[in-house]
Amino acid sequence: MTAKTIDGNALSRHLRHEVAERAALLRERGITPGLAVILVGENPASQVYVRNKVKACHDNGLHSVLEHYPAAMTEAELLARIKALNADAAIHGILVQLPLPGHIDAHRVIETIAPAKDVDGFHVASAGALMVGQPGFRPCTPYGCMKMLESIGCDPKGKHAVVIGRSNIVGKPMAMLLLQASATVTICHSATADLGFHTRQADIVVAAVGKRNVLTADMVKPGAVVIDVGMNRDEHGRLCGDVDHAGVAKVAGHLTPVPGGVGPMTITMLLMNTIESAERNAA
Ligand code: GUN
Repeated sequence: MTAKTIDGNALSRHLRHEVAERAALLRERGITPGLAVILVGENPASQVYVRNKVKACHDNGLHSVLEHYPAAMTEAELLARIKALNADAAIHGILVQLPLPGHIDAHRVIETIAPAKDVDGFHVASAGALMVGQPGFRPCTPYGCMKMLESIGCDPKGKHAVVIGRSNIVGKPMAMLLLQASATVTICHSATADLGFHTRQADIVVAAVGKRNVLTADMVKPGAVVIDVGMNRDEHGRLCGDVDHAGVAKVAGHLTPVPGGVGPMTITMLLMNTIESAERNAA
């Protein structure tokens, strides 16, 4: 079997077209959806991510401001900026790029963002809403993974989904979204005794640990849908995911590439959440 590729760039183009249309409708009503992106420090990967997020806003009719502060910024200064943005009517979404420098408490920062502007979906109020099945912002990466499943007609209902990774950003919300979609969900992590035992039973595998070759061909059920959230570098410095792509492609039914898979979808869902926030605000 050769797995079909789930093309995150193509799906993103389609969804961003919808975003641009909804942004245009809002602008006709005098509302320009606005996203504030805050970056603290000089993490090179974070700089690339935030640049891509701001560019995607501009390309699709959203207003976006990038606030880049030195690593020495104090927590109090950052909290004051967030409070100002909470009160700014031109801003519908606030994103603080993670990781933050060690002297800043990321949890306190996230909890300072108004839940109505929490387009990353990281606030406890957003996480709680997802947990109890209430409306709220869904974290962009798992939300994008769900859209990728939908795009290939894969309904998780009754399927066994295995999520590898238990981060607050991806693993835990991913498991919740799959559960909400009526999958039977197993969450595996660094202390899981026999990862392959679990993944071999899975109809859907989402790999989100940040380590190369976590999932190899012998760990995949023939025909399974495999979503690779990883963003790593191989020994040649090339971008690669958590999945042994060449091997797993021979066994899986569908597989997402890295790059060009989940990455663009994460940004697309951020745009979608920001539009959603502006629409709710205008209602
Ligand atoms: N760092 C890595 N991924 C993300 C993300 O989705 N949002 C934010 N704010 N920071 C991140």
